[in-house]
Amino acid sequence: PYPLYAELRKTPVVQDEEGPYLVSTYWEIKELLHDPRISSDARNLSPDAPMGPAQDEDPNLPPTFLRLDPPEHDRLRGLANRPFGPPHSPRRVHDMRSELAEIVSGLIDGLGDRQGGDGIDLVDTFAYPFPVTVICRLLGVPREDEAHFHEWADTIAASLDPVSGEDREARMETTRKARADLAVYLAGLIEERRKAPRDDMLSAMAAGHGPDGQLSPVEMISTAALLLIAGHETTVNLITNGMLTLLRNPEVLQRLRDDPGLAVPLVEELLRYEPPVQLLPQRTTLTDIEVGGTIIPKGASLWLLLASGNRDPQRFPDPDRFIPNRTDNQHLGLGSGIHSCFGAPLARLEAQLALTELVRRLDNPRLLEDPPEYRQNAVLRGPRHLNIAFDGIK
Ligand code: HEM
Repeated sequence: PYPLYAELRKTPVVQDEEGPYLVSTYWEIKELLHDPRISSDARNLSPDAPMGPAQDEDPNLPPTFLRLDPPEHDRLRGLANRPFGPPHSPRRVHDMRSELAEIVSGLIDGLGDRQGGDGIDLVDTFAYPFPVTVICRLLGVPREDEAHFHEWADTIAASLDPVSGEDREARMETTRKARADLAVYLAGLIEERRKAPRDDMLSAMAAGHGPDGQLSPVEMISTAALLLIAGHETTVNLITNGMLTLLRNPEVLQRLRDDPGLAVPLVEELLRYEPPVQLLPQRTTLTDIEVGGTIIPKGASLWLLLASGNRDPQRFPDPDRFIPNRTDNQHLGLGSGIHSCFGAPLARLEAQLALTELVRRLDNPRLLEDPPEYRQNAVLRGPRHLNIAFDGIK
């Protein structure tokens, strides 16, 4: 997609035929992400907007704060954040470090057994199970129930890729059922935690009282489901894009082995260079606005091309080069403004730990297929499989 973005950046705003307005330059995207005249509320989206109204939400639950404007956005996001901290507070994320490290090392221990003659698929064996396990632990899902969560996460994630015809009907039905089962399961668990709280996020949500009230039971369910959906597939792609980039740049891989501290700027550079969320397709103008010399009318649908802004030479010197210790790297990979990623500290830590441990422990890792097959999805970018081989595990 990157040559296409370079072409688009010749004019900051382009209307795609009669459809959405595509915004491709860094400063214009950033400004729009901070502009209260731009709405994230799915109810403002025109019904024929591509990728809208919110396909990624359960129509039987109230909208999540991802798809709401202030003041409802701020109330729900504040309540999700306030009583317990995770996943937003640095302290809670710090506490989670050792738990995350344990999950990573358990998964890597298992990779040796999984390697047959054809190597392994790092997506299935590692990048997929890791973040969903983390979200289960964060919420407080008992270990014996984690397998159900993995299944629901798989089904919901698959529903984000396009299919056509009858397959589409069948898949919509499977997705609907997965969402409904997830909601029923969460309702039960929240009720249990309300009666007997533990040190986890669902207990804190169920117990939380404060000046701005409390999350209602359905708001708790939709918030917990949001964390699963927003925090799973994105992290899978960050880890997979990261390993692909490292395996294509063996000298960078070696530098990370020698200096694990490099993981911090390296993950920022990945979020700039290969962001899992390529674009935000669900914004609407609440009034006529002028952007980069173009008037965008009220009610228009906007696509903010984050990945294009991240390669804008007006903002980043040498933007098409992967520079693992790049400084001044205020990329758009986790969004910006009031909707900027709620799970950012957790996402960063997961990717840092995963990449550092994979390069430390896999002996002579190499790609078996380059380029890999990518998912067919305009919003989420990442390989469907990443087939690699290695000589052993340290
Ligand atoms: C919002 C990216 C991981 C929870 C966002 C947004 C982006 C993003 C671009 C802005 C959406 C918008 O403005 O419409 C990513 C990436 C991740 C990641 C690339 C991983 C590499 C996570 C994790 C969680 C999470 C691990 C939770 C556990 C959320 C939530 C929002 C959000 C709840 C909505 C925030 C709001 O509307 O106020 N994320 N995310 N994300 N993210 Fe993440």
